[in-house]
Amino acid sequence: MTTNSGIDAFWMPFTPNRQFKTTPRMVASASGVRYRTPNGREILDGTSGLWCVGAGHAHPKISAAMKQQIDTLDFASNFQVGHPGAFELAERIGALAPPRLDRVFLVNSGSEACDSAIKIALAYWRSRGEGQRQLFVGRERGFHGVGFGGISIGGMQANRRAFGNAMLRTDHLRATWDPATQAFVKGQPESGADFADELEQRIIALHDASNIASVFVEPVAGSTGVLVPPKGYLKRLREICDHYGLLLVFDEVITGFGRLGSMFAAQAFDVVPDMIVFAKTISNGAAPLGGVIVRREIHDAIMRGPTHVAEFMHGYTCSGHPLSCAAGLAMLDVIEEEKLLDRVNSLATSFQDAVHSLASAPGVVSVRNIGLAAGVELSPYTDAVGRRGAAAQAAAFDCGLLTRAPGDTLILAPPFVSTTEEIHEMVARMRVAIEHTAASGEL
Ligand SMILES: Cc1ncc(COP(=O)(O)O)c(C=O)c1O
Repeated sequence: MTTNSGIDAFWMPFTPNRQFKTTPRMVASASGVRYRTPNGREILDGTSGLWCVGAGHAHPKISAAMKQQIDTLDFASNFQVGHPGAFELAERIGALAPPRLDRVFLVNSGSEACDSAIKIALAYWRSRGEGQRQLFVGRERGFHGVGFGGISIGGMQANRRAFGNAMLRTDHLRATWDPATQAFVKGQPESGADFADELEQRIIALHDASNIASVFVEPVAGSTGVLVPPKGYLKRLREICDHYGLLLVFDEVITGFGRLGSMFAAQAFDVVPDMIVFAKTISNGAAPLGGVIVRREIHDAIMRGPTHVAEFMHGYTCSGHPLSCAAGLAMLDVIEEEKLLDRVNSLATSFQDAVHSLASAPGVVSVRNIGLAAGVELSPYTDAVGRRGAAAQAAAFDCGLLTRAPGDTLILAPPFVSTTEEIHEMVARMRVAIEHTAASGEL
């Protein structure tokens, strides 16, 4: 292509570029739960940006903290020098996590956090003289970002297809999804805890526990379209990991910092993993920030060797960037001062009722929800899985709602500061989009 219309150069991530560039969907500004397009049209933010803007856009406290930070200390690396913001943030995050998960490695994204957790697991076993533990157990339909570690452990075939075999050694549990019993369940399905038994009965039986570095799951599988863990499933995973001495990692990039009405899903489900991976909501999306919260014993086991040598040869130029830390600290203040966890809990039931009302919309085959996260699955068009979802996403934008469509499932994950009326309005607009895609007669 030789011409450049002004939008050709930017190669957009996770986007059908050619289609987008024929019909661009642009936003130009945002505040609270609303985006605005360049010509001033309002779009309700039904996905909290990309699952990250829990406190609403342009939160004054977060903006002020970042403005002050950039004028005080714009950049300092954390390689062999430090700055107070990173230490304070790690301290505060550790204090919010379950007991003994209080060592925090900071990065800039969920993908970096997943790959860091993978390396921490490998380094831990090596330091214990068990370097043969190199197999990772993920789950079908899991998403752990886009690094090579994350796509290996993740269970999204489309995210691996083009990238050959440069993968970690992995095996995958089956997804916790059972359409026969879960299609319209509100909250956690009653049955399905036994899906976890596959870890013992097939995976450990096949590979032997002594070769497994960790079991790596999202407590609620978000990106694939919100699959809620059956009651008892995560506890059962923990029991099996304990019995065989395996590390359990929760990828809480979506669930961390409030989405389920608790600081972490670990607390919501009362299951303590050995590491928690986080990103997204910690900075309210205002700056790139993620990390890994590590059980103290794992950290301590790696703190060995000559004292002048870095114990863990890993990190990023912007790990613990001052601006990101300022955003993170301000977000923690906002979560506390504005009682955002309580707000999520008080909205959760009306959110649940509202999203389940979409069961009567044409071609809806499943509605799943927990906290302020829901997936509304549509029956696909006959010719191509995912085409109806994409059409519904575009139709939603046209009628003023930002949603996402992994495959044919529409996501609703509103900011924690949404009002009940705003949630009803989001659901109403989603219904129009669903009806629009049914009315096109392709079902
Ligand atoms: C569970 C989970 N892990 C990891 C990631 C990757 O995060 P990032 O896009 O910040 O790299 C995501 C992103 O959606 C996610 O949902």
